[in-house]
Amino acid sequence: MNPLGGNGSLPAAPAAGGWQPAVPAANWPEEDRRWMRRALALAGRARGRTTPNPLVGAVLVRDDRVVGEGFHRRAGAPHAEAEALRQAGDRARGATLYVTLEPCCHYGRTPPCSDALIRAGIRRVVAAMVDPDPRVRGRGLAALRAAGVRVEVGLLEEEARRLNAAYLAWNLLGRPLITMKYAMTLDGRIATRRGDARWITGDAARRFVHRLRDRVDLIAVGIGTVLADDPCLTTRLPRGGRDPIRLVIDSQARTPPGARVVRAAAASPAPTWIAVTERAPAHRVRALEAAGAQVLRVPATAEGRVDLAELLVELGRRGIRHVLVEGGAAIHGALLAAGLADHVLAFIAPKLVGGAGAPGPVGGPGVDRMAGALRLHRVRLRRLGDDWLVEGYLRDPATLPLDVFSATAPGVSRAGGP
Ligand SMILES: NC(=O)c1ccc[n+]([C@@H]2O[C@H](COP(=O)([O-])OP(=O)(O)OC[C@H]3O[C@@H](n4cnc5c(N)ncnc54)[C@H](OP(=O)(O)O)[C@@H]3O)[C@@H](O)[C@H]2O)c1
Ligand SMILES: [Zn+2]
Repeated sequence: MNPLGGNGSLPAAPAAGGWQPAVPAANWPEEDRRWMRRALALAGRARGRTTPNPLVGAVLVRDDRVVGEGFHRRAGAPHAEAEALRQAGDRARGATLYVTLEPCCHYGRTPPCSDALIRAGIRRVVAAMVDPDPRVRGRGLAALRAAGVRVEVGLLEEEARRLNAAYLAWNLLGRPLITMKYAMTLDGRIATRRGDARWITGDAARRFVHRLRDRVDLIAVGIGTVLADDPCLTTRLPRGGRDPIRLVIDSQARTPPGARVVRAAAASPAPTWIAVTERAPAHRVRALEAAGAQVLRVPATAEGRVDLAELLVELGRRGIRHVLVEGGAAIHGALLAAGLADHVLAFIAPKLVGGAGAPGPVGGPGVDRMAGALRLHRVRLRRLGDDWLVEGYLRDPATLPLDVFSATAPGVSRAGGP
């Protein structure tokens, strides 16, 4: 049953996910944990920069000393293992590699890391997690093992999964990770009855959102939000930051060619995309293209609107791994109804605006009974200036099961720890 959708034909998000750590972190020696924490910290330095690739960090240790380390900086750049090997040179022989993701074993833009590690004489490889990419899924570890390398997997796996939640979502759900974000007053309004929404939260919360934009691949809004607020959807941080791709979900191509979100494309390194249906009037599509936007034609639902599930698959094909949806109510309602929202960030300002007609954060038909409410998991509360942030998951991609060992990688044991 699909609680917010009414028709019950779409899968509701499962409760807490199926994956559990196979080996409790505490069972690993402290020095192993220390090096893996270092590899994770290295990996995290490229947040938002490696798409469509995962975040990966690698540390090579010999005789208790780091002889080489690296991280994957961006798609097309060397893999973390290759950077660490290059730094280590001859000192890699006999070393242990701590790596946050299973080394690859296929030719992508760079040659397989498993071969390079074997050639360099690495004695032991400790990987935080298996690579969920169907081309790898245990084969990289199996290749190492077949060459006589001692292989262990599962150290700080939970942290590694969390770091690569978007990459897991793409490989295991076939679509990007969806974060739904909104700001509301304490009485649950995302705008006044006249549609004024500037600003609900204070500086600290808005800075938080810009740091978030810096790390996601794409920000999406509905056409209603563009018409009401004319947002830029760029990243504005004191030290610059990176603009994600901007996307308007706009079945009939109603976005004004002069809208800020379209004009932003002239100054921003990131493009503006408009998702329309095949039935969008051709002259409006041409006007948007002439204004510098890229128009994506997406199949329509029975109601003639952009089919959100199809849209997300198309975004994934274009290399998008993490989408931040910033409203409005209708788009949020439709995403929840389709079971497509994974992660929720609700900013709450201690303000009351009232108004029976003022919108709340989630539109659509809603549920009939409280028992049908969608419940968030792993809920966290944090204070940002005068505002509060409630964060939680409807579906946590970091806990999706990845049962590959029996199927594809005989001879690689999941259990770690020497
Ligand atoms: N406080 C906040 O965090 C925040 C954030 C954003 C917006 N807002 C406020 O929210 C209000 C706008 O919200 P809204 O609900 O009117 O607009 P919206 O959710 O931004 O856009 C809704 C429109 O999206 C289009 N759409 C395309 N595909 C759809 C689909 N599959 N399902 C549903 N809609 C689809 C529909 O128009 P077509 O049929 O023409 O495509 C629909 O009317 C404004 O007042 C704004 O200030 C507040
Ligand atoms: Zn590699």
